[in-house]
Amino acid sequence: MSEVSTSTLGISPGDRQSFQHRHGIIGKSTEIREVVDTIMQVAPTDITVLVTGESGTGKEVIAKAIHQASKRVSRKFIPVNCGAIPEGILESELFGHEKGAFTGAVETRKGYFELADGGTIFLDEIGDTPISTQVKLLRVLESGEFMRVGSSEPRTADVRVLAATNKNLDEEVRARRFRQDLFFRLRSVNIRIPPLRNRRGDIPLLVEAFLRSLGGNGRGAAAGQDILVTDDGMAALMRHSWPGNVRELRNVIESILVLERGNVVDERVVTRYLHVEEPRIDDRSLPMHLGKAPEQAERELLFRLLWEIKSDLNDLRRLVGELQQRPPLSLPAGDGAEHPSISLDDMTLRGMEEELIAHTLERFRGNRRLAAEALNISERTLYRKIKDYGL
Ligand SMILES: Nc1ncnc2c1ncn2[C@@H]1O[C@H](COP(=O)(O)OP(=O)(O)OP(=O)(O)O)[C@@H](O)[C@H]1O
Ligand SMILES: [Mg+2]
Repeated sequence: MSEVSTSTLGISPGDRQSFQHRHGIIGKSTEIREVVDTIMQVAPTDITVLVTGESGTGKEVIAKAIHQASKRVSRKFIPVNCGAIPEGILESELFGHEKGAFTGAVETRKGYFELADGGTIFLDEIGDTPISTQVKLLRVLESGEFMRVGSSEPRTADVRVLAATNKNLDEEVRARRFRQDLFFRLRSVNIRIPPLRNRRGDIPLLVEAFLRSLGGNGRGAAAGQDILVTDDGMAALMRHSWPGNVRELRNVIESILVLERGNVVDERVVTRYLHVEEPRIDDRSLPMHLGKAPEQAERELLFRLLWEIKSDLNDLRRLVGELQQRPPLSLPAGDGAEHPSISLDDMTLRGMEEELIAHTLERFRGNRRLAAEALNISERTLYRKIKDYGL
């Protein structure tokens, strides 16, 4: 057997392929093969695994595969989005609460750790966990013990913990937003999924798989099969920078399947579905003398775009202000009565924010994580604002 076809872990290509097939992990790049080999190794154990990677790279796919390939497969897999659950609620969701522990705690409730007994908890967006909850997570990881909110009785549960984040936890630790001890505890096994633009070789396989699996939409059961992606079409897909990674690719393929009439997907078709105004950084278009990492350059472009949107909104706001200052055509009844304090200014500020959020969400096709990142606010704040504005 050659060294090339067998991994250093001694996993044969055949075993790896059938594992990938069973768990729906598509990709044959060295990067994905390494990820798969690690999963195959750690899955049967109870070790805590931290999965990191940009949004849409497949962190949840990997976490599910680890659970499914473990001896806990017949028990629960409970995903918890630590970034989206409001701070006050997260702890009671995780560990449960006693009746009367806080206003609204009308009865005793079990938390996810108790509910997942024998199974797996997937702490998604662990990087967004409030510090106070981090202490308690560390305790449960170290001793298996936790307490319901409002109780001092320690409980235990047999739970395997998997975690994921798209944040750079090193940075979070340095900024004191993430506890170093918890970070060290979590990263005993760290599976890093590289962004799609760094493993473009996986794109044709993913395209083929999505054409097959998403084909149903209005094109008949066997649709997808009769669609031809031309060489220049595939080249365009492979050139794109995919800031939203595999999720974005999947969405693009889905849109093409739903909206395209013809069966030929060439470069012209593809370009229509790739966000044109999107900062398209690829290895060829990025001027080398820039001396910046693609991610950095991409972020800067994104901010410039946002800045432009903001300036447009500011112009609008000024315009509204000017309109307000014009003398009214007819004076309001009641002499000397002051104008009611004008809240229009506030409204436009709120409106501006709402507009910006709506626009950013649209840009990222509803992906809150990317939108929050672009807006430089936490996902939780974004979540609250979406609710506030009813977006
Ligand atoms: N290697 C892969 N093979 C097949 N499908 C994949 C792969 N990676 C990602 N996907 C698909 O891409 C989409 C996004 O994957 P997933 O939700 O796991 O990403 P994520 O890293 O958890 O993203 P986020 O950080 O935004 O939560 C899903 O539809 C998933 O099925
Ligand atoms: Mg996810």
